[in-house]
Amino acid sequence: MKNNPPNEGQPYNYRLLDDQVCVIVGVASLRSIGYATAALFTAHGARLVLLDLAMTHQIASDLTASIAAQVGHTPDVLCLPCDIRSATDCDRAIEQAVLRFGRIDCLVNCAGIVRSEGMLSITDEAYETIMNVNLKGTFNLCKSALKRFVDQRSGVIVNLASLAAQRGGGLVGGAHYAASKGGVISLTRSIAREFAPLGIRANVICPAMIETSMLDGLSEDQLAAVISAIPLKRVGKASELAGACLFLASDLSGFMTGATLDVNGGMHIH
Ligand SMILES: NC(=O)c1ccc[n+]([C@@H]2O[C@H](COP(=O)([O-])OP(=O)(O)OC[C@H]3O[C@@H](n4cnc5c(N)ncnc54)[C@H](O)[C@@H]3O)[C@@H](O)[C@H]2O)c1
Repeated sequence: MKNNPPNEGQPYNYRLLDDQVCVIVGVASLRSIGYATAALFTAHGARLVLLDLAMTHQIASDLTASIAAQVGHTPDVLCLPCDIRSATDCDRAIEQAVLRFGRIDCLVNCAGIVRSEGMLSITDEAYETIMNVNLKGTFNLCKSALKRFVDQRSGVIVNLASLAAQRGGGLVGGAHYAASKGGVISLTRSIAREFAPLGIRANVICPAMIETSMLDGLSEDQLAAVISAIPLKRVGKASELAGACLFLASDLSGFMTGATLDVNGGMHIH
């Protein structure tokens, strides 16, 4: 059998997401994984739909200016407030994205919240808050995008779970957080199996210890102890998570669906 290179006939300097319309949720902070992903996707030619519960005109203009400064050109971007706990909000955001760009090619779910508390301290309210954002919210936005992907017979989903779902509780999150992220892994696998015959792919990333506001709750001593237990001996950068999102969003991973990608500095090798 002939051993073809993966992109035979294409130059190696091509942009991985040229003209692709990518919806990214969870972008409001310039330190977030969602923002780093938006910037990297812009550099690879994507047009962006940026969603966040906290989105305002000011945040939208800060995001646009920051991406332009980082990438060297102003992104083609639509920024919208969206609470992923609401199915109506999610449907509306996807409709507005399609109105603006005519289609959507990719969804990256980076919205999430974390709470650190022992099992016996988790109230009903805290449980529901975590589940509603991390699991139901991801379900809602996936469902809104999938309605469109099914019509198009194409589309890619990248979901963010967590190492917490794999190792039995997080270094930062409690049992409710870990369970919500376990649900995200199962949800992603189910979507991958159900929609693969239509050419729609879904994969999930399990990050750990990425330097964003999610680590702000750790004291210096706690952080030092965690770093000493990471085989690569450092925390991860949001840009390194963005790289994993780019791989899963692009045709580089065209034959991958239902996979779980570990981005954890070697903390969990299995
Ligand atoms: N940073 C890490 O080390 C780490 C580790 C494991 C998993 N993760 C996961 O990666 C994802 C991104 O995390 P991050 O570190 O960039 O955190 P972040 O707090 O910087 O970003 C999360 C964003 O989600 C938004 N959000 C919260 N609730 C929302 C809602 N109901 N609707 C819409 N948006 C909402 C927030 O406003 C925020 O901008 C999360 O799902 C998180 O659980 C992060």
